[in-house]
Amino acid sequence: MCGIFGCILKNGNAAPVIHAALKRLEYRGYDSVGEATISNGKLFIKKDQGKIDDVHKARNLDDLPGSIGIGHTRWATHGAPLEINAHPHVDCHGQIAVIHNGIIENYADLKQELENRGHVFKSKTDTEVIAHLIERALEAFPPPSLADAVLETVKKLDGSYSIAVISTKEPDKIICARHESPLVIGVNENAIYFASDIPAFLPLTNKAVIVDDGEIVTLSLKGFEIRKIADSSMVSREPKLIDWAPEMAVKQGYPYFMLKEIHEQPACLRNTLRLQEHYLDLMATFLDRAREVYLVACGTSYHACLASSYMFSKLAFLATYPVIASEFVEQHGKSVNIDSTILAVSQSGETADTLASVNVARQRAATVLGLTNTIGSTLTRVSRVYIGQQSGPEIGVAATKTFTSQLSVMSQLALRLAKKRGKVSQDEMDYLAEKLNKLPETVETILRTQEEKAKQIAKKYKDAKVFFFLGRGISTATAYEGRLKLMEIAYVPAIAFPAGESKHGPISLVEPGFPVVFICPKDDTHKTLIGNIMEMKARGASIIAVVEEGDEEIKNLAEDFFEVPKGVPEVLSPVPFITPLQLLAYYMAIEKGFNPDTPRNLAKSVTVK
Ligand code: G6P
Repeated sequence: MCGIFGCILKNGNAAPVIHAALKRLEYRGYDSVGEATISNGKLFIKKDQGKIDDVHKARNLDDLPGSIGIGHTRWATHGAPLEINAHPHVDCHGQIAVIHNGIIENYADLKQELENRGHVFKSKTDTEVIAHLIERALEAFPPPSLADAVLETVKKLDGSYSIAVISTKEPDKIICARHESPLVIGVNENAIYFASDIPAFLPLTNKAVIVDDGEIVTLSLKGFEIRKIADSSMVSREPKLIDWAPEMAVKQGYPYFMLKEIHEQPACLRNTLRLQEHYLDLMATFLDRAREVYLVACGTSYHACLASSYMFSKLAFLATYPVIASEFVEQHGKSVNIDSTILAVSQSGETADTLASVNVARQRAATVLGLTNTIGSTLTRVSRVYIGQQSGPEIGVAATKTFTSQLSVMSQLALRLAKKRGKVSQDEMDYLAEKLNKLPETVETILRTQEEKAKQIAKKYKDAKVFFFLGRGISTATAYEGRLKLMEIAYVPAIAFPAGESKHGPISLVEPGFPVVFICPKDDTHKTLIGNIMEMKARGASIIAVVEEGDEEIKNLAEDFFEVPKGVPEVLSPVPFITPLQLLAYYMAIEKGFNPDTPRNLAKSVTVK
C-alpha cells in the first residue's frame, strides 16, 4: 500500500501542494517519498528513502518548479526502501515519470522483454516497467497520444495498480489508470487533483470523483475525461460532495483505524494472492530440506504460526514447532543447529523477542526465513529468504488484517511444500487453490452480513466479567486470537483453550450465564466439539458459536451465533472464522467506551525484550 497524489494548478507551484498532500497520505506508507514536476518542457524529480519530514529536511521537496506534478509515499513491496527504488520512476530518456500503488504480477517477464530490446532499468521495482512500456508505446508511428500510450501499456499489466503518469511530450496533462487499487479525483475552479484517498485533497476541495476499476483518466486544466480501459468508451460521472470531518477522512469514513483495517482484509488477502511464486518456492525448498522447523513469533503473529503448524502437518506432512519468541532461546537455544530452519513471523519485522530468537538461530548456523509486512525491517535484513505480506501499514495496535494475510501466505507455503513432497493430489491442490482464491470474497460476505450481529452480541455481553474461547484442531489458534483481541482492546479477562482440554480445569469457572465462544467449522472435529458444547451448556454457559452457514445442529445449541459461508476447507478456516471475532472485540471496546486503536499499556511494535 502506497499513497499517490498529483495536481495541475492554474497558478503557483505544484510541489508544496503535493508535499502537504503526501503528509496527509503518510498513513498509507512512509519508507520513501518522491515528487516529479514539469516546468518549461523539462522533468524535475526529487526522491529518497525515509519519512517525508526527513527527506524534506535534507532535500527541500518544495522547490521543484512547475504547476503540474505527481508525488508518492511508499510502502515497499518490490525492492528495498532505497532512493533508487523510490517513486517516481522514469523511462530511458527521463521524459516520462510514473508513480504506482499496487503490485504488477507479470513485471519480471515484461522487464526481461524490455531489457532484451535495450531498455535500461535502474530500480528493483515492478513499477519501472510501466515507464518503459509507455516509452515503447510512444515510439510507434504515428505516435499515439500520451493517454493512448498509457492505455496500451496498462492492457499489458497483470495485478493491481493505480498509476499516474506525466511526460514532457504532453506537459499539461496527467494520465491516471486504476485496477484494484484506489484512485479518486478532486476538482475545484483553480485546480484538478488525483489521489489514493479523498483525505489527501480534502482541505483543497470537497468535490470528488471516484474512479472505478478498469478506467483511465486524462486530467488537464480543462477538467477530467474518463474512459474504459477495455474498449476506450467514454464514461460520464459527476463529482460528489464529501462531507467528512478531517479526522474521519484519514480513516476513510471509519471511526477507528481498527475497523478500517478489518474492512481492508479482502483487499489485503487479494494482495497475498499476488506474491511472487519464486519466493514461495524458495522458502518451501528450505522448509523441505530442514531437519526441524520452528515457527517463531509473538502475539497475533504467534497465533498465525500456531495455525500454520496444522497447515504444514495436514497438507505437507511436515511437523513444525510453533514457539513464542520470548521462550525460544530458553526452550530451543541449545538444540537449534545447522540443520534447523527458523521461520520468523513478524508484522513489524522489529519485535525484539523475535529478533533475539533469530540472532541465536543465526549464531548456531540455522537457516532463517522471514514473513513480515515491513520490507526493509531488521527481519528482512537478517533472513536468508523473506516474504513481504503486502498488507500496507496497520495502525490499530491490535493486529487484524496482518493476521489474516499471514494465514493466507502460510497456507500458500504449505500448499507449495505439499506439492513438492507429493503429499496432495492435483485435484486436491486445485480445489484448495480455488478456495484460497475465494477467501477475499468469503471475508467480504462476512463483513457485509455479520457486523450488525457483532454489534448486538457486544451489547448483550458488554458487562460479562470473563469470556471463554474454545476450538479444536486448527480452530484452537482462532480461539486464542479471538481471546487476545477481546482482552487487548475491550479489557475483558478471557481464557482460551483447546476445547478438549477445557474439562481439565477451566470448566470449574463456569457458572450460569458465563459466555463461551466456540469456533465450529464443519471439519473432523465437529462431532467432538458438540460434546464440548454440551458439557458447557450443562453447567449453564451461554454459548456464542461461530458456525458454517446452515449448521442447524450447533445453531440450536447456541444462544447467539455468527455464520460464515459454507465450504471453506479446514486449513483455511481461521481466516473466515476470526473475522466475526475481530468485529466482536471491536464492538465490545466501543460499547465499553474504549478507543480500540490505542489500548492502554500496549504498543504496536515491541522493541524491548
Ligand atoms: C505487539 C502488538 C501485537 C503484535 C505483536 C507481535 O504485542 O501489540 O499486535 O501481534 O506485538 O508483533 P509483530 O510485529 O512481531 O508481528
